[in-house]
Amino acid sequence: MTVRELQEKILKLKKETNTAILAHCYQAREICEIADFVGDSYKLSVDAKNIKEENILFCGVHFMAETAKMLSPQKHVYLSNKHAGCPMAEQMDKDMISAIRAQEPDRTVVAYVNTTAALKTVCDVCVTSSSALRIVKALDNDKILFIPDCNLGDYIRRQCPDKDIKLLQGGCPTHARITVREVTAAKEEYPDALFLVHPECTPKVVELADYVGSTTGIMDFAKKSDKKEFIIGTENSIVEHLQYDCPDKKFYPVSRDLVCHNMKLTTLPDIYNTLAGIGSGNGDAFEIIMDDELIVQARKCIDEMIRLGG
Ligand code: 13P
Ligand code: SF4
Repeated sequence: MTVRELQEKILKLKKETNTAILAHCYQAREICEIADFVGDSYKLSVDAKNIKEENILFCGVHFMAETAKMLSPQKHVYLSNKHAGCPMAEQMDKDMISAIRAQEPDRTVVAYVNTTAALKTVCDVCVTSSSALRIVKALDNDKILFIPDCNLGDYIRRQCPDKDIKLLQGGCPTHARITVREVTAAKEEYPDALFLVHPECTPKVVELADYVGSTTGIMDFAKKSDKKEFIIGTENSIVEHLQYDCPDKKFYPVSRDLVCHNMKLTTLPDIYNTLAGIGSGNGDAFEIIMDDELIVQARKCIDEMIRLGG
């Protein structure tokens, strides 16, 4: 079967099962093509609130499907590959943050959305990479604990020098892999290219950037720019999407190694099998099941993110 034939089957099943497909932009091109909504973490959170279909199929990682479930608790939400998790989301737990809260109760706890629902229950507000600066600036408390990504936290802290932002040691293993040496080598090879980087990269890498932003921030910047060449400092699927969308420009990965293996677990057959499982009700589809009380408690900081970030 060709990719196109499988995509056609998926589109048919999607309609028959009354399912909306949400895909993070780190997904492969053939997956983005059959999705109803494609975007960065913030856009997908907002989209998840307004789905009309009875079922949501999330192509991304576990915390994203969990966020969609919290925002649309009356819907059935499925993750297309049950093994797709985000290592950063597992780095800190509820007890650890509760203990810090007890020691420093005057800090507002700001959680990157890449966290588990259980951890979100002890946080005050969520942020994503595209909304973090806006939200931190909007907070009326200047004392903040920012978790778990210390690289994104450092990027925000530099732009809010009046705030006392405490960080812990957490972060994205994929973005943290980019080294200054790789950036310098890419800049030497492509001297006319702008370097566009995600704030999950280390501060030394971020310092070398011409633009810092979320995945869709990077894509929008490159599309609107008059420049013709770009070195991309985020997951390599963005290089592929940009090259496809802007054939007259050139996009270079800063490192061939910049692949999130969790995001890449999902395949078109996974999506087909999940939709077939939804259709037959045989339990083959991986549904996100959450306790009502957990949804109520964890959702507060996501609602706060949307209120402050909108
Ligand atoms: P954004 O979608 O906010 O750019 O975050 C990237 C990421 O690493 C998601 O897991
Ligand atoms: Fe998690 Fe990083 Fe992969 Fe995003 S790119 S899902 S933050 S490991």
